[in-house]
Amino acid sequence: MSDAKFTPRVFSGIQPSGDLHLGNYLGALKRFADAQNQGILSIYCMVDLHAITVWQDPAALTRNTRELCAGFIASGIDPEKSILFNQSQVPEHAQLAWVFNCVARMGWMGRMTQWKDKSGKNAEAASLGLLAYPALMAADILVYHATHVPVGEDQKQHLELTRDIAAKFNHDYGVEFFPMTEPVIEGAATRVMNLQDGTKKMSKSDPSDKTRINLTDDADAIARKIKKAKTDPDPLPETADGLENRPEARNLVNIWAALAETTVDDVVAQNAGKMFGYFKQDLADLAVEKLAPISGEMARLMQDQAEIDRILGRGAERAREIAAPILAQTYDIVGMVRS
Ligand code: TRP
Repeated sequence: MSDAKFTPRVFSGIQPSGDLHLGNYLGALKRFADAQNQGILSIYCMVDLHAITVWQDPAALTRNTRELCAGFIASGIDPEKSILFNQSQVPEHAQLAWVFNCVARMGWMGRMTQWKDKSGKNAEAASLGLLAYPALMAADILVYHATHVPVGEDQKQHLELTRDIAAKFNHDYGVEFFPMTEPVIEGAATRVMNLQDGTKKMSKSDPSDKTRINLTDDADAIARKIKKAKTDPDPLPETADGLENRPEARNLVNIWAALAETTVDDVVAQNAGKMFGYFKQDLADLAVEKLAPISGEMARLMQDQAEIDRILGRGAERAREIAAPILAQTYDIVGMVRS
């Protein structure tokens, strides 16, 4: 524990930018669902304000936010146990982000690799929001005094910036108000790679749908994509060391281990010497068993939008109960008059 003064609290955010896939499930949603039973309050946010840092079609954004909410619930996140809501319904995020815009330095923002990648050669044409994005992310986390943030490796730098912002705020105002948040980085075991190229991450932006399993895929699509997944001609090795330099083989074994909640060593031991044709058959059965109920439940939830909106509204209310007093104290520290 980084900061004994602060109650352990988990926060994470996912952008509602569409097309949840197996990588989001194993890397984030399933981990979140497993974590919520550890007795620590977990707050999960659909970060719609982050999504609009690049253009979003309004109707698609609405749909994607609801679908992401359905994905959370179908993956086992209980909206009563955890807090589940969309960012724009808790205005304290944007309010604290403004304060942080005035704490963070331009130089810090310009050094973010995600900014450099996304703004590319034409930074002049990027939105100001894209540059300020990590200050909003820091506000998401710190408006709850969250101590632990489960994220992918690619978000590590943003979490360091969150700590820098907290430290500078605390230092400038002479307080110990914001905690030093700890990243909880996903392990290699939950990093899901592209089914046609095991050296690339599974991604919703790959033009070929065969490269990923979408959380909305039905049983047939799941089985077909696993059976067509790229492999090498060798059988499964005798030990996990034998997966080295075999990225596609390793990926399928990883997926098996994550879905079955076992270890890579165990999967290799169970399947040593088996040809991939047979292994993929069994993996397809396992994936259908674990994932088809999720896509079914998502489809069912998506038929009742009023219910999804009610859940998001209720989550936002609960989130505000925590966020509003922290924002008010922040304003007091900064010297804003509150009448
Ligand atoms: N930046 C994160 C991503 O793109 C999403 C995000 C926004 C987030 N706010 C957050 C993640 C706060 C963790 C905590 O994946």
